[in-house]
Amino acid sequence: MTAYQGVLEYLEDHRHRWLVTGVAGFIGSNLLEALLRHGQEVVGLDNLSTGHRYNLEQVRDLVGERAWRSFTLIEGDIRQPEACIEACRGVEYVLHQAALGSVPRSIQDPVRTNENNISGFLNMLVASRDASVRRFVYAASSSTYGDHPDLPKVEPVIGRPLSPYAVTKYVNELYADVFARCYGTNSIGLRYFNVFGPRQDPNGAYAAVIPQWVAALVENRPLYINGDGETSRDFCFIENVIQINLLAALTDNAEAVNQVYNVALNERTSLNRLYEMIRGLLQETFPHLRHHEPTYVDFRKGDVRHSQADISRAAAMLGFSPTHRIEEGLTEALAWYVAHLAPDREEPGSPGRRQSRR
Ligand SMILES: NC(=O)c1ccc[n+]([C@@H]2O[C@H](COP(=O)([O-])OP(=O)(O)OC[C@H]3O[C@@H](n4cnc5c(N)ncnc54)[C@H](O)[C@@H]3O)[C@@H](O)[C@H]2O)c1
Repeated sequence: MTAYQGVLEYLEDHRHRWLVTGVAGFIGSNLLEALLRHGQEVVGLDNLSTGHRYNLEQVRDLVGERAWRSFTLIEGDIRQPEACIEACRGVEYVLHQAALGSVPRSIQDPVRTNENNISGFLNMLVASRDASVRRFVYAASSSTYGDHPDLPKVEPVIGRPLSPYAVTKYVNELYADVFARCYGTNSIGLRYFNVFGPRQDPNGAYAAVIPQWVAALVENRPLYINGDGETSRDFCFIENVIQINLLAALTDNAEAVNQVYNVALNERTSLNRLYEMIRGLLQETFPHLRHHEPTYVDFRKGDVRHSQADISRAAAMLGFSPTHRIEEGLTEALAWYVAHLAPDREEPGSPGRRQSRR
């Protein structure tokens, strides 16, 4: 039995109270779905700044009314200490996802990124400490590796940050570490690399590459590749992220706590290769894509050139063992996007074009 199978089995017999911040977002709503499916009680905190109610409605449809009754949404902002205190009441495990994502957004608006990602994080850490939660698992980021050239990335070796976003995510790690020393808190930071999957927002200037491209291809719009397309990333399907969150929350390995872990596959895919994979998978449903060509534009400021995660620490300390490689993840993710994005299949509660222009 894998460590993850052990955790899922444990959850069948043990009901806990969890807090998922950023619950209406991409990763948060997937964590919510997994927890509810496994009989857990969940409080969600979200200010709906980049998250959407229709993500929660979709989880409700997927898990059914009975499981949905175990969920409570607090519409609130982590920049408000009272909201964090209220959300942490009686909670045993915190999965802190709320933040303003995107490197370009942080370059555009560093102050707002700082308020959400550093002040908000600190409020959550204080509230979790005061509520004596068992574990505070938080979304860190591969952007912390900054300009360090070595590949694959190993957790102790980081470079200088390349964006305000990267600064905020590194400061999160410093605070979590110092809280462990000063107050004895138990936290685990998860340095996500490029996560993708159902419910990742395809809309807006700061959309991530996979949903942005899929939407462009499905809707037959121009698709832009930044730079020469040889920039590479370690793309990680959401199921692997759910796995490591649950492992991190429930591990009883004392040495695993108050550490940070890379979360990806230790595989590198160039943007050109990613484009070919997505186009190839979509071609069966959309034959017009056989003749599609991408448009190459300038490199983006703040982007690292290559990214690849060494995941041996997560494997050794937490038993992390990814179940989905990029092809499997893309197949599942694209099926979801086709069902929810294609103009003729658009349905209420989807992130389709009409909703994006609310
Ligand atoms: N998606 C990735 O590839 C990736 C990579 C590295 C790190 N991360 C981190 O993972 C976390 C989740 O990212 P995501 O991709 O799901 O993004 P997302 O934008 O879909 O979700 C973030 C959620 O947090 C909420 N939120 C933002 N500010 C808030 C505030 N002040 N108070 C309450 N709620 C707030 C948003 O409304 C949204 O629902 C973030 O911390 C992000 O920085 C994501």
